[in-house]
Amino acid sequence: MCGIVGYIGKRNAYPILIKGLHRLEYRGYDSAGVALINEQGQLNIYKAKGKVAELEAFCADKDTRGTIGIAHTRWATHGEPSTVNAHPHYSESERLAIIHNGIIENYAVLKAGLMEQGYTFRSETDTEVLVQLIEYTQLNEHVDLKTAVQLALQQVIGAYAIAVLDKDHPDTLIAARKGSPLVVGIGEDEYFLASDATPIVEYTDKVIYIEDEEVVYISMNPNSPPSREGQGGGSIDITTINNVAKTPEIKRLELSLSQLEKGGYPHFMLKEIFEQPRTLTDSMRGRVNVRQDNIALSGFIDNKERFLNAKRIIITACGTSWHAGLIAMYAIEEFAQIPVEVEYSSEFRYRKPVINKDDVVIAISQSGETADTLAAIQLAKSKGAFIFSICNVIGASIPRVSDSGCYTHVGPEIGVASTKAFTAQVTALTMLALCIGKEKRTMSEEQYLRIVRELGRIPDKISRVLEQEKRIADFSKTFTYAQNFIYLGRGYNYPVAMEGALKLKEISYIHAEGYPAAEMKHGPIALISQEMPVVVVAPHCGTYEKVVSNIQEIKARKGRVIAIVTEGDEVVSKIADYIIEVPETEECLTPLLTVIPLQLLAYHIAVVKGCDVDQPRNLAKSVTVE
Ligand code: AGP
Repeated sequence: MCGIVGYIGKRNAYPILIKGLHRLEYRGYDSAGVALINEQGQLNIYKAKGKVAELEAFCADKDTRGTIGIAHTRWATHGEPSTVNAHPHYSESERLAIIHNGIIENYAVLKAGLMEQGYTFRSETDTEVLVQLIEYTQLNEHVDLKTAVQLALQQVIGAYAIAVLDKDHPDTLIAARKGSPLVVGIGEDEYFLASDATPIVEYTDKVIYIEDEEVVYISMNPNSPPSREGQGGGSIDITTINNVAKTPEIKRLELSLSQLEKGGYPHFMLKEIFEQPRTLTDSMRGRVNVRQDNIALSGFIDNKERFLNAKRIIITACGTSWHAGLIAMYAIEEFAQIPVEVEYSSEFRYRKPVINKDDVVIAISQSGETADTLAAIQLAKSKGAFIFSICNVIGASIPRVSDSGCYTHVGPEIGVASTKAFTAQVTALTMLALCIGKEKRTMSEEQYLRIVRELGRIPDKISRVLEQEKRIADFSKTFTYAQNFIYLGRGYNYPVAMEGALKLKEISYIHAEGYPAAEMKHGPIALISQEMPVVVVAPHCGTYEKVVSNIQEIKARKGRVIAIVTEGDEVVSKIADYIIEVPETEECLTPLLTVIPLQLLAYHIAVVKGCDVDQPRNLAKSVTVE
């Protein structure tokens, strides 16, 4: 999704902006651009289609001087990926420049009005409409730039995080947000702007998370009032778009630079796959106490009654997080005996769902910024439901809108394909299911204790699965020819099959589908031939024998089977073409082990195919638009 970086201070802005864009590359983008005001007061904009490296090459012989600037990575919504559609965009007079993350839904109406006033447009973007609207408002209403931004944003329907430069005021940076994330970093005599904290972390740990409909006015003018934060030079002033003054709340960043580096791995995705024994330990730290045989989840403890009285739990999420939600449905219904519905946020928010005051709505989101999930919980909240969120990015919009929740604490996930966030989400949801089940006495003490103890062993068991990486890498080469893959699983491992298929699709561009194994004979079996690799997730679980029969059916039709089995399996290992073993564990915890080989399989197939694993085409890490 689009990335925003801004700088104002005493240093050369260009290197800071470019480094910031690199840090935001993981979000996914198709073009990049930068705007700088130099000492002569010239506002220079440079843009390039493709990677940030192409922008750098383009800028190599350009004037990149200036201590104020904004930069952007674009993920196309309105208008194809191209240099002309890349941000920043000039206003009509070329006095203003803007960058934007989000969608201006009423841009066509606004554009028509501006065209009637003689405004011309260079790009097909909604963003250019906004900068023109700001300039038009300023000239027409005879107001200063901040007021023009406020008035223009009052007319906008949609989502935005914007930053605006004015070449007549080279000591001022204006930004605003609604629906799309924006963070301000406060340094010594300098300020940073970014879509998330990753471009800021190496300069300062003091940040302000901008709220919806807030406008930030940063000035380095010595004559402007002293900063409300008492930081050396410059001042920062926050108002709403209706000009109501707000008191900025400065937070301390819990993010280190080393967490953002690849640490010797060729890709962030591989690093993140291998981090899982540690990240799961971190997710459980202070929560799962194996010695006292107990789970303490503060978000649950503080709101116990809401969960115990819930007539229904609705889980809402997208993509991989939705798969984690499906696994939670099995666990919550099994242990807590509460009916669970799992909803795609994008459907839920628009289908006029019946939501009651005694419903608990659980939102799952790695980024905490997914626009559809945010809208889904806002809808549920307006109907009086209790909102509990499971997110990774601290301080993101979804946890801030929620009534309570639980962070997964896996550190930044940079690879677009979610891996460590998924296992941590499943762990958090399983802990929640166990907490409710224990409290409601809908599960036996013995079963609770067994699973709590086993949870503590999962990180070591994941390490054992990871030891098979070399073998998985070797046989991955056999499958790069494939145009299609089928993934099958049952019960807790049906969502794992879908997750494995999603991983393969998004990074290797091979078409893959995940099905409940028993559904195969209702259609997908027609696809089986010797060209069709079928990944079957078949650990020792309640439905094991039935899955074995499904494997026989595939083999009878010459399909090639890659099976994920429990260590020591003697049945499937004789009929499958390839097997990957995972240690024995409790059925509800098998997804935490069986998903690991599927992550590695997708990764290695994509690498052999020469795909851009960390930044797959068309994909964004954080989907902040609908
Ligand atoms: C997973 O690999 C994806 N890239 C994607 O499906 C992701 O899980 C989805 O966009 C939801 O994101 P969130 O968890 O940040 O809300």
